[in-house]
Amino acid sequence: MRRALPIVASRRARPLDAPPRPDDVDPWGPLVDTRGRRYVYARLSVTDRCDMACVYCMPRGGEVEHGERAELLAMEESVRLAGVLARIGVRRVRITGGEPLVRRGVVELVARLREAGIAEVVLTTNASLLARHAEALAEAGLSCVNVSIDSLDPARFGAITRGGSLADVLAGIDAAQRAGIAVKTNTVALGGVNDDELGAIVDWARARGITPRFIELMPIGEGARLPSERFMSASQIVESLGARVGPGRGESTSGAGPARYLDAPEGSTGRVGLITAVSDDFCDDCNRLRVTAHGEVRACLADRASVSLRDAMRSGASDEDLAWLFRWALGAKGEGHRFTDEDAREHEGVGMSLIGG
Ligand code: GTP
Ligand code: 5AD
Ligand code: SF4
Repeated sequence: MRRALPIVASRRARPLDAPPRPDDVDPWGPLVDTRGRRYVYARLSVTDRCDMACVYCMPRGGEVEHGERAELLAMEESVRLAGVLARIGVRRVRITGGEPLVRRGVVELVARLREAGIAEVVLTTNASLLARHAEALAEAGLSCVNVSIDSLDPARFGAITRGGSLADVLAGIDAAQRAGIAVKTNTVALGGVNDDELGAIVDWARARGITPRFIELMPIGEGARLPSERFMSASQIVESLGARVGPGRGESTSGAGPARYLDAPEGSTGRVGLITAVSDDFCDDCNRLRVTAHGEVRACLADRASVSLRDAMRSGASDEDLAWLFRWALGAKGEGHRFTDEDAREHEGVGMSLIGG
């Protein structure tokens, strides 16, 4: 047996103690968990900071505790992890935040992830800074952005995001499309807030060749503190879209993330995505792993347990050790998500912004 791997307790997570890497395990085999799920898609959060403060994500006044800069994974460390992930079969990396574009060096990170062997590098962003960076991101090899947009009304958009500028976001989307980056949108459906404009968002998106997606509000972080009437189920969302979508339940997926896509009705085009994070359990074929901004690997968004790759790297772990830690962390993955479990809901103050959605 080799020495035990250093897994240092983190303030925010329930750290798992990984056993030392056994001699008889090939650290470089494909990443498959005990339920046979093969991990080919990683979400890499690069910051827990954001220049907006959406009501379901960040606390009012941004009084979120960010911690020291040194707690964040350095870009070098993210690139090293991506190299390890590429060797064990991960082909798609989504860069997330907080808001990833507030972190300096993200354009270079895109290029470095591609060089590290990641075939497809994509980004989830609020698009406030996208107009400024779109061309450079496209040149670095970014193929697609998912942009959060919860309203097309500037005042309402400003209220939901607590100060975000809709004009900047629209300019960011235009710039991305001009640079050849594919655009999808994410709209969290909020009863009594934006439920009257979901159809208008579909029309707006279709007219621009954008794929709109609607997300059920998840009771995680600030989302758990909103009144229950804010939650809209997927069936309520579909009902509010009326004849804009075809009759199917939307079984088709893109084979990547958790969204399922509803076809357009006969005679028109443009799919509409639904992320039924609460009412459907899509865990059975979940193919994603998450690395938080602090370098912890989480098997599941709804799980508090994590392993610190950052601490392992800073204590001299080899690439083989890191491959083993990914394997061990995911082997420990539970069955189904636990948003209904009080313990998971609280997340000890950890919201989407640190985990990266
Ligand atoms: P694509 O690869 O484009 O399909 O992206 P994606 O939908 O996986 O990524 P995005 O960052 O746009 O996430 C959209 C929403 O899906 C966010 O609210 C995420 O938190 C949520 N999401 C992504 N993966 C999971 C998951 O495994 N479980 C749950 N419950 N939500 C998820
Ligand atoms: N429930 C649902 N979606 C959320 N997001 C952030 N917090 C929540 C929540 N509590 C979404 C954002 C963004 C994506 C990364 O995560 O709208 O589109
Ligand atoms: Fe920022 Fe995205 Fe959270 Fe809104 S949902 S506060 S844009 S990280």
